[in-house]
Order: sequence, then C-alpha cells, then structure tokens
Amino acid sequence: MCGIVAHVGSRDCVPILLEGLAQLEYRGYDSAGLAVVSRSGGLRVHKAKSRVAGLGSNLPARFKGGPGIGHTRWATHGEPNDINAHPHVVGPVAVVHNGIIENADELRAKLIAEGAEFTSETDSEVLAHLIARASGYLPAPDAAADGTTRQASAVANDGTGQGGLEGQDDGTGQAGGEGQDDGTGQATRAGKRGGAGMARVARTGSTGKPAHADSVADNLDGRGDLEEAVRRALTSVVGTYGIAVLDARRPDRVVAARNGSPVVLGIGEREMFVASDAAALVRHTRRVVYLDDGEVALVRADGFETATLDGGLTAKTPSTITWTSEAFDKGEYTHFMRKEIAEQPEVVARTLSGRLEPRFQTTHLGGIELAARELLDIHRVKILGCGSAYIAGAIGAHLIEQLARLPAHAEPASEFRYRNPVIERDTLYIAVSQSGETFDTLAAVQEVKRKGGRVLGIVNVVGSTIARECARGIYLHAGPEIAVVSTKTFTCTAVAFALLAIHLGRIRDLSTADGGRLLAALAALPEQIAGIIGREAEIAALAERLAGSEHAYFVGRSAGYAVAMEGALKLKEVSYLHAEAYSAAELKHGPLALISPETPTMAVIPRDELYEKNVSTIEEIRARRGPVFAVTHPGEMPAAIDAAFAVPKSEPELDPILLNIPLQLLAYHVALKKGCDIDKPRNLAKSVTVE
Ligand code: F6R
Repeated sequence: MCGIVAHVGSRDCVPILLEGLAQLEYRGYDSAGLAVVSRSGGLRVHKAKSRVAGLGSNLPARFKGGPGIGHTRWATHGEPNDINAHPHVVGPVAVVHNGIIENADELRAKLIAEGAEFTSETDSEVLAHLIARASGYLPAPDAAADGTTRQASAVANDGTGQGGLEGQDDGTGQAGGEGQDDGTGQATRAGKRGGAGMARVARTGSTGKPAHADSVADNLDGRGDLEEAVRRALTSVVGTYGIAVLDARRPDRVVAARNGSPVVLGIGEREMFVASDAAALVRHTRRVVYLDDGEVALVRADGFETATLDGGLTAKTPSTITWTSEAFDKGEYTHFMRKEIAEQPEVVARTLSGRLEPRFQTTHLGGIELAARELLDIHRVKILGCGSAYIAGAIGAHLIEQLARLPAHAEPASEFRYRNPVIERDTLYIAVSQSGETFDTLAAVQEVKRKGGRVLGIVNVVGSTIARECARGIYLHAGPEIAVVSTKTFTCTAVAFALLAIHLGRIRDLSTADGGRLLAALAALPEQIAGIIGREAEIAALAERLAGSEHAYFVGRSAGYAVAMEGALKLKEVSYLHAEAYSAAELKHGPLALISPETPTMAVIPRDELYEKNVSTIEEIRARRGPVFAVTHPGEMPAAIDAAFAVPKSEPELDPILLNIPLQLLAYHVALKKGCDIDKPRNLAKSVTVE
C-alpha cells in the first residue's frame, strides 16, 4: 500500500524523507517521489518508477530544502510509471495521497471543463487541482507561478489517542506500556488558527482568472490559508484519503488530512513529521498523534493544530510509541519473515506477560473492560478479520467454543460488512487485525457499532484505527511486523484467543483443573516454539521435496483445518506455489479428482480423537499415488506417509498453535529455494487500507 512521509523543520528534509520512505517499503509499492520547497522558495519534485534507493541515488544536483513530502505508490488508478507516481503538482501546490477518490472521474471532467490540464491517470491528481484552486491558484497557459518552479509535466523529474484497547497498563506493569499518553492529558496545540503567525495565503500564484460560476472551485476565492483550502477542496471529495500537502508559497507548513487512510503526526524538537505509518517516524520521535477521520492538521516546526472539515478545532492527546528503532531492522537475518518467525518465543511470552492468573486458574485481560456479569450475558461470539487474521480467528472460534462452550464463528470481515448483517445484543463481536488499519475489518467494526453491537479488538499496532475504534480489547505486543506476510502476529493472535477463551470459560463451566492445565500449557509455549525453530534443517529438507511442485493440498480437520488454511496461504503468498486448503473430510467430495503423483498433500494430523480419521484420509490420497507429508505429534507414523515433522505435544486445545510453526518455516524455505522476494511478495501489500 502507499506510504506518506513529510517533514517540517529547519533541517534539509530530503534525507529524512528518503529514510522514512525506506522504512515504509515493507508495505509494498511500485514507485516513489519527493517534493520539497527549495532554499530559494521554489518547488522541486523528483519522482520515478523505482525503489526508494534508486530515487535517492538519482537525485538532481542540489536537491534539498524543506519542508517536504514523500510518497511510495501502490498503483490503483493508472499503471505504475513516472508520471503516475506522487507527488502530484499543480503550480505551487504538491500533494501525496493514499486511498481512493471515488468521484475522481466526475471531478476530473469538471476541472477539465474549467481549463485544468491533467498529466497523470491517477485519481490523486484531482486533489492537487482542487487544493491549488481552493488556495487561489489558477494556472495561466504558460506563466509560472511566482516563486515556484513550474512543472513542464508531472514526469519532469525535478526540472524542475490514542486510546484503544488497553489504553492503560493491563495490570502487568509491562504489557500495556505502549500508547499511553504523555502524562499531560492535554491536547498539544500550536498557535491559534487565524492568529499571529498564521498569515493568510498570499495570492502569488493566482492569475486572477475568474472561477466559473458552476465551478468545482465554486467560491474558492483564495482568501483562505492552505489548511482552509485543503478543507474546502475536500468537501467535494468522495472516497478515502490520507494526504500531505505542500505549498511553495507557505514554506513554514505542511497540511495533512485523513479519511479512512491512516495519518500520524510525529512531534520532534522544533520539527514535526507526518506519516502514514509510525514506522517512518520512530527513528526521530516517539511522541505521536493519530488523526481521526475527517480531521485536517496544520503542521509547522513548532507544533500542530487539528480541525474538522468544517473548521472546528479538535483536541488531540499525544501517545508514546514504545517500539524501538532496532525492531525495524533485520539484524542478523536475511529476511524479516525469518526474523519474525525466530522472534516467536519472545513475542508469545510478551503476549502472555502478566495475563496468567495462577491464583484463580484463569487469565487477566485488563483491556477488555467487560465485567464478569457482562461477559455472562454473552451467548455467541462472532470473529471478523481478513486473510491470516481471519484464519487466526477461526482458531479462536474453536478455542472459545471448546473452552467457554459458546457458539463462536469466524467470518471474513470483507464478506460480513456487505451482507447487511444482523447484529445481536448478546453477541460479542471481535475484530482481529495486525495493522489495525485493514479497511474491510474497520468497516465491519463500524457496521457493528452503528447497529449497537459490542465489539472488542485483538490488534497488534497500538493506537491504530481499529484499536481506537474498538476502544477495548487485547493488544498482542508482538512488536512491528515488517514482512508482508504475517507469522508472529498470527501466533500471538491465536495465543490471545486462548487467553480470552480461558477467561470466558472460567466464568462459565471451565473447571479450575482445566484452567490450571491450560495455563501451564500456555506458559510452556515459548520454549516449545523455540524447540521447533531449532529444528529448521528438517523443515528445509521437506521444503526441498515440495519446491518442485506446481500445486499442493493442505488438509486438516476441525482446528487442524484452520492450520491447513494458514499453511496454504503462507505457501502461496511467499513462494507462488499454488496451494489449496481443504477440510480433510471434504476431500472425497471433489478435490480427490486432482490428486496425482505430481500433487503433494500436506496433512495436519495431531494425535487427537480425529487421528484415525485423518489416517483414513491419507490412505485415500496414497491410493491415488499422491505424495503425503505431515505435521503431527511424536509417535509411530502411518506407513503411507512420505515424510513427517513431529511437533511437541501441548494440550489438545493449544496444539494448533504449535502445528502451524513448521508450516511457516516450510513456506519460507520453499520461497528461498525458488528465489522469491520473500519479504515483499508480488502484488501484495502489508496493510490493505483500500476496499
Ligand atoms: C497473510 C497476511 C494478510 C493479512 C490481512 C489482514 O500473511 O498478512 O492476509 O493477514 O491482510 O491484515 P491485518 O491483520 O493487518 O488486518
């Protein structure tokens, strides 16, 4: 997905922007660009279909200055090329945009009718025209705006509150440290709108051309300030946006706005940052402010001010990010995916930290903010998420049903939100998201809330939109996940569900003996996971045998089916090997037709009450000469299996968590063998903030 970074301060912003964009690379992108106000006061733009490193090494001479904005683009409207890359520039105004403008075609037609000239195929360029016009700039056919470097074309490279979930410590004194306010409880403001130091926009760029009476720039007479122009322009926009706007006539500020696409402000020492993801800021500051939908921020070196689209000032409380900048580095590893798999013993321990209550054989979850009495009123659980988050939810549903004896079901948030769902008073809705920014999951949360439902979040990124929208829930504390595919956060989510299921179970029928049994098993998980990761060579050997295949099946039953789903998803994402997950019992209802010596099956077969049934499925596959590999538990292997990896036994309810770990390593090693771009698989983005 696209990334934004911006800086206002006395330093040359170019290295800051390039470094920030490099931190956002993990999100996936196809082109990148920068716009800065040069020391002489002109706007300089450099953008290309290239990696961030390439952008930096090809900078034109003396490309420096500030303030500045930067962008990594993930194409939605128009192919990835130099012209469609951001920033988009109209006269003195440059804009970077994340999201999708739904009425872009309509606005573009109106703007063209008024004489605007478009250079790109993007929806985003509409914003640059609208804001430039709203600020009083109407381009003359040939004249450059005073004090600006006129772009020959957009391709002309330079030629020119937090809140949310556990807002407070969860009682452990450890886990809930992230995202606490700075202790002041005060909104941070800079200046007063319209007051001293907030000079109105001088109409240096205006040619004095009259706006058309029915213009989209209707009444935009340029009397406002840049932030006022942004607000006015955005009122005609339908869609989602996170934007940063630069105006060469206002070299003391950047204006940012958000609707459905994250924007975070970073508070530095006499400098300010703007980004779409805190990863781009964390090397410079830990004090951040998250914009809410419909907010516009005026950002200057000495602070910021936020307002709604209609101009009403809003109060913001800064949060503190506790993730260290080292957490964003690969360290000794060649890939983030491998690093994040290896981190699992440590991060699972963090998810568990302070949440096991051996005294009452239960768990302590300070952030769910629901008293036992309220939890007793819950008669059903509905879990919503996308991709791996949804699959972790399927494991969660199984845990809740087994341990709390509540009907529980996971559904892709993207399906749920479009089917006018019935929201029930006695259902607990749980939104699962690593990033806390996935658009479909956020929309599902909003739909539940709009209809009066009760929703809690299981989220990794503190202060993220879904975390704030849910306002209660469980943070994973897994640290930043940089690889596009999720591994450690999948495991931590399943662990968080185990904590919740025990909690719900212990206020119902789960006995103290069962509570104690599960608590001991949870505490043992980090060491067991470390043991599995330590046997990586065995899994690499298995990967060797799978890597030559074009297709593979993953099968399992009950929670083992969810493990098979996640194993297949991971393999196809990183290695591009076509992998399909099926319930083992369903195989004979169709897919068996495709089993052949060329189509291996990876079977998830824990030693549980379904073991014999799984062995029968293996026999069916072997009878069709299909190779079978298995993740299972120690013990005698069925004769028909070609190769197996045995994971240590946990308690049956928690076995799926361990059975998944070798499948992560399997996907990694198949991808490694095939020479794939493991951390940034083709066509994928880390957080999907568009519909
Ligand atoms: C799979 C993967 C995706 C995400 C999905 C939801 O490896 O990473 O399927 O799980 O896009 O993302 P979050 O959890 O950020 O909502």
